[in-house]
Amino acid sequence: MASGKIIIAIDGYSSTGKSTFAKLVAKGLGYIYADSGALYRAVTYFAYTNGFIDDRGNIDKENLQRVLPKVEITFRTNKKGDSQTFLNGANIEKYIRQSTVSSHVSPIAEIPFVRDFVNVMLRRMGQDKGLVMDGRDIGTAVFPNAEIKIFMTASEQVRAMRRFKELQAKGEKDTFESVLENLKKRDYIDSHREKDPLTKAKDAIELDNSSMSLEDEIEWLNTILLPNFNLKVELGQQEI
Ligand code: DC
Repeated sequence: MASGKIIIAIDGYSSTGKSTFAKLVAKGLGYIYADSGALYRAVTYFAYTNGFIDDRGNIDKENLQRVLPKVEITFRTNKKGDSQTFLNGANIEKYIRQSTVSSHVSPIAEIPFVRDFVNVMLRRMGQDKGLVMDGRDIGTAVFPNAEIKIFMTASEQVRAMRRFKELQAKGEKDTFESVLENLKKRDYIDSHREKDPLTKAKDAIELDNSSMSLEDEIEWLNTILLPNFNLKVELGQQEI
């Protein structure tokens, strides 16, 4: 039986609940949690607010590539223990989850130099292992040697409803139909792009959580995958 710190890569379509699951696993193991999508969202926010994306969605790639190396994106944990994304020293967490960013992020994430820029930061986070990272290409491209790879799926309707409820809770005005439309569009772009498309790694284990609770998912992980590494996620009552 293996022991010591490992990397857990969690990939899958939008709104499959990857980040909620990944955060809980990281907390339960005392590992670091990293949201790779937040980096693509931060680059998108930077590009949008600095005029590199026009009203029709056209991206000024040449100038974006020129300035990107000077852009600083970092994660810091707030008092509640939540990870916050900072762009050049400013907290942009609130803005990167809004629909303006969601609707432009997939075309930005398709650009090879953007992926290279983000991947350098992601791989740095895995240097000491003890990491749970979620995204679209973590098990295939970022950490192809990750000890555990999970590919999360759920039906489109279930995913869109989860996202819709999240947005409603934040007071956003999006309709269910527009959320579903955006989700389908992103899934398509994410899985058809040329560089590192969203795809299940050969050695990833699929988890369809359409009708699973978060507790069921943790139990699945504790039963099926973690015993090989002598690890177990312990949940406190207050955590779910
Ligand atoms: O997980 P998310 O919805 O926050 O991700 C935002 C976008 O970033 C998503 O549409 C695809 C892209 N992404 C990616 O291409 N590769 C990753 N590893 C993570 C996210």
